[in-house]
Amino acid sequence: MKSRIGVLTGGGDCAGLSPAIKWVVKTALDEQLQWDRGTQYQVIGIRDGWRGLIRAEPGSPDIPGYIVPLDQEKVRTWDRYGGTFLGTSRTNPYDPKNDQSKIVLDNIEKLGLEALVAIGGDDTLGVAYKLAQEGVNVVGIPKTVDKDILGTDYTLGFETALSVITEEIDRLRTTAGSHKRIFVVETMGRNAGWLALKSGESSGAFIILIPEYDFSIEKVNELVMEGKRAGSRYEIIVVAEGAKSEGYSEFTKDKHIDGFGHKTLGGIAEFLSGEISRTLGLESRSIVLSYLQRGGTPCAYDRRMARYFGIAAIDLVVKKDFGKMVSYKNGRVTAVPLEEAIGKLNLVDVETEYDIERYNGRRTIL
Ligand code: F6P
Repeated sequence: MKSRIGVLTGGGDCAGLSPAIKWVVKTALDEQLQWDRGTQYQVIGIRDGWRGLIRAEPGSPDIPGYIVPLDQEKVRTWDRYGGTFLGTSRTNPYDPKNDQSKIVLDNIEKLGLEALVAIGGDDTLGVAYKLAQEGVNVVGIPKTVDKDILGTDYTLGFETALSVITEEIDRLRTTAGSHKRIFVVETMGRNAGWLALKSGESSGAFIILIPEYDFSIEKVNELVMEGKRAGSRYEIIVVAEGAKSEGYSEFTKDKHIDGFGHKTLGGIAEFLSGEISRTLGLESRSIVLSYLQRGGTPCAYDRRMARYFGIAAIDLVVKKDFGKMVSYKNGRVTAVPLEEAIGKLNLVDVETEYDIERYNGRRTIL
C-alpha cells in the first residue's frame, strides 16, 4: 500500500514553484530511496491552491480538474519553467466571511492524504499551520518575490524577480539617458522593501524607497538636484509599491480586499514622478513593473533552491516531522516550526540595511 502525498501551490505565483514541485515528486518517488526507506509513496498534485482542496471532493465531477497524479516523467522538464503547473489561487479556507476549512479537512481525509506539502507565502503557510493544528500532516516550502517570510533567509522566486527588475532597469537607462529623464520604477513587495532595495542595489539605482522608512519628497527632490548639479543626464529611482512619503499612507489601486485581508497596492511611482516634474520642472516618467517581476524562467539560483527545498520537504515527510517549513538559514537548508514563519513579516532592518541619508543601500559594509 502506497502512502499518498499531496502537493499544492498557493498565493501569488513566481518563478521556482514548478521546480519545487518537480523535486518534491522526484524525491518522493526515487526508487532507491523508496527501497532504503521501506515506504512507497505516490504523489498527487492539487490544482489552484486551497481552492483545489475545497472543490476536490472524491466522487465529484470536479475531481479531474483539481487532482492530478504526478510521476517523474510528468515533472521531468518542470524545473525549466516559471509559474506553477499546478495553478494557484488566493483562496483562504479560513476566511472569516466564508469559512470552508471543514470541507478542506474532510477532503484531505477522503483523498487519503497522509502528508501535504504546501508551497506558498505567509498566507498559504498560515493556512498550513492551522491545518497542522487540526492534525493534518503538513510541511511548508517558502516562496514569494516579497521575501517577507520569517524563519528563512530565502523564499523561492526572489532572485528571478531581482534579475527581471535589473534587466528592465538596464533597458530604461538607455531611453532615460537619450531623453534626459528621471524614471521612477515601482516594484512589488507589499509591505516589505526587499525587492526594491536589492533590485535597486543590483541595478545601481540612484534612489531606493522602501516601506520600512517613510521618505520626504523634499529630500528626494534635493537628491535629484544634487545629481543634476553633478552632471547626471538622467536618474533611476526605485520605489516599492508599499513605500509612503511622510504624512501619507500607502497608495492602493482600488478598494478590493482579498480573502486574507490584503489591499492591492500601487500608484506611488506615478505620484512621485508627478511631484518631481511639478516641483523641479524636470521631465519625469513612471513605470510599474507589476507582474513581469513574477514571470519568466526561473534563474539558476531559484532552480537550485527549489531543488533543495523540494528534497528537504520530503525528508521531513519521511521523518514524519510535520508542522514545519523548510528554510534556508545562515547558509544551510534546515527547517523551522510553521508557527515561527507566520503572523509577522520579515522586513528590512533600516538600521543595518538602509542608508537614510542617501535613500539607498548601505555605503559601508564592514
Ligand atoms: O505577494 C506577492 C505579490 O506579488 C505582492 O508583491 C503584490 O503586492 C501582490 O502579490 C499582488 O497580488 P495579486 O497577484 O493578487 O494581484
